[in-house]
Amino acid sequence: MMYDTILSRSFSRSDQKKLGYGAVFCCLLILFSIFTALKPHLGPLPAMTLRLAAGDGHKMLLIEEKSASLEEEVNTGNDSAINSTVQKNFTRKMEPLCNVMDPKSDYCSITGDVRVQGSSSTVFVAPSEMVTHNESWTIRPYARKRDETAMSPIRKWSILPSAVARQPIPICTEHHSVPGVIFSTGGYAGNNFHAFTDIIIPLFLTSRHFGGEVRFLVTNRNPWWVQKFSAILENLSKYEIIDIDNAGENTLCFPRVIVGLKHHKEMTIDPSRSPYSISDFRAFLRSAYSLKKENAIKLQDGELKRRPRLLIVSRKRSRSFTNIAEIMSAAETLGYEVVASELDSNMSRTPEIVNSCDVMMGVHGAGLTNLVFLPENAVLIQILPIGRFEWHAKVCFGDPAKHMNINYLEYNIREKESSLIQEFPLDHVVFKDPVAFHKHNWNLFKSRYLDKQNVQLDVNRFRQTLATALELLR
Ligand SMILES: *[C@@H]1O[C@H](CO)[C@@H](O)[C@H](O)[C@H]1NC(C)=O
Ligand SMILES: *[C@@H]1O[C@H](CO)[C@@H](O)[C@H](O)[C@H]1NC(C)=O
Ligand SMILES: *[C@@H]1O[C@H](CO)[C@@H](O)[C@H](O)[C@H]1NC(C)=O
Ligand SMILES: *[C@@H]1O[C@H](CO)[C@@H](O)[C@H](O)[C@H]1NC(C)=O
Ligand SMILES: *[C@@H]1O[C@H](CO)[C@@H](O)[C@H](O)[C@H]1NC(C)=O
Ligand SMILES: *[C@@H]1O[C@H](CO)[C@@H](O)[C@H](O)[C@H]1NC(C)=O
Repeated sequence: MMYDTILSRSFSRSDQKKLGYGAVFCCLLILFSIFTALKPHLGPLPAMTLRLAAGDGHKMLLIEEKSASLEEEVNTGNDSAINSTVQKNFTRKMEPLCNVMDPKSDYCSITGDVRVQGSSSTVFVAPSEMVTHNESWTIRPYARKRDETAMSPIRKWSILPSAVARQPIPICTEHHSVPGVIFSTGGYAGNNFHAFTDIIIPLFLTSRHFGGEVRFLVTNRNPWWVQKFSAILENLSKYEIIDIDNAGENTLCFPRVIVGLKHHKEMTIDPSRSPYSISDFRAFLRSAYSLKKENAIKLQDGELKRRPRLLIVSRKRSRSFTNIAEIMSAAETLGYEVVASELDSNMSRTPEIVNSCDVMMGVHGAGLTNLVFLPENAVLIQILPIGRFEWHAKVCFGDPAKHMNINYLEYNIREKESSLIQEFPLDHVVFKDPVAFHKHNWNLFKSRYLDKQNVQLDVNRFRQTLATALELLR
């Protein structure tokens, strides 16, 4: 079970428990983490190159070409433009309906007379005068495609052009005038990090340009999830969400259907592949949650009146701060106004708390995903427990923070700041070489470094990090 290890299983279990999913992470990332764990100086990039070269590197050129043209089509968001382009150039229309070459997610965009049948999880494509699609596809519309643990519960959808279907395609029972987007709320959706990186940001990328004129067809519908993120869903689509798995024998007809969501990179958007940036996404969140603060406080030299707000993300069950009062008092002495919160899944409270702060600090975990709500130029301080979290820390929150225009500081705890010191001597392998200790055995890693480790910050040392954060607000 080597791939079945580490990474974001380090996240809070509270959300997952509600769903009963194990918190896991894409095997691609886990593979990277193993590479990096084995060779600390070999970053994720060489590992990725390795994997691509070993896998379908040869196909890469082809992929780029195809995804570029699919991308272009979608980005215009102008169906009549697509139509006229197609009419002018017959060959363009012969593009495959689906792009299954992208390493992150499969994505289909089908324009014309498209009929969605929930009972058979099939998207039928009616014939048109212009073109005969002769290829069918099967897609699992969740953006973590190489992680079998995430993907296996995701419902499979067939994209079946009439020329390939062996039966007459079903008659429409419901007509919709706006495009439909089919996506899943299964997989790791219950984990806050995955909710954003696997679904919400990809959904924004895929549907924002419709300006609300789009219907969401949710497969593996999770009522709790849909409720939790209702503000986002309602802002992206003006229409009620359809629970497509339970649509009975109805056949829903659309002028266009997208199956699957685009995914660029963990927690971010590649502006070269989208008309939107992660800043646009954050502005969108501020609007959806009516968050007032666009920019973090800008301190003047020698200013005493305004105190920057520091949010301490206080986990309760594991990786919690055992000396939170001491941390708060040190921060207050430095001039902060301190707020401590666990940041639960209450979405009328959490975004507002985070947005009201200028600095957010917390131990590595899914709670830090709430950085999306921080104002521009805020500071994120990620605290890394014992266990070699560097790579995960960077991929999950460090790099995303930088893309989001959030200053990023990291604080690696020392042995004596870890509760592990109560159980192991200083020279124990648990400290000296965590990788040798857990040997990529997930259960061992989880129980030792994630579940059974608390943090007692050395406030004398940590004060420097808090002071640096203050400097960054000047
Ligand atoms: C697209 O082209 C088809 C076939 O010519 C036509 O029936 C349809 O109305 C066009 N749609 C739009 C949105 O222009
Ligand atoms: C869409 O494309 C058509 C044809 O190119 C153009 O006439 C129309 O103005 C475009 N609409 C928008 C909203 O861009
Ligand atoms: C149609 O597309 C082909 C291949 O992309 C291109 O060579 C040709 O010039 C195009 N024709 C028109 C009329 O745009
Ligand atoms: C579909 O049609 C194209 C172009 O006519 C052809 O090259 C391809 O082999 C066909 N694919 C299948 C699966 O029939
Ligand atoms: C998004 O939410 C904000 C705040 O509730 C609201 O003002 C705005 O109209 C919403 N946009 C859409 C497209 O629903
Ligand atoms: C969520 O937080 C708001 C504001 O603090 C509160 O009014 C509401 O009762 C909370 N909802 C739940 C389900 O706890």
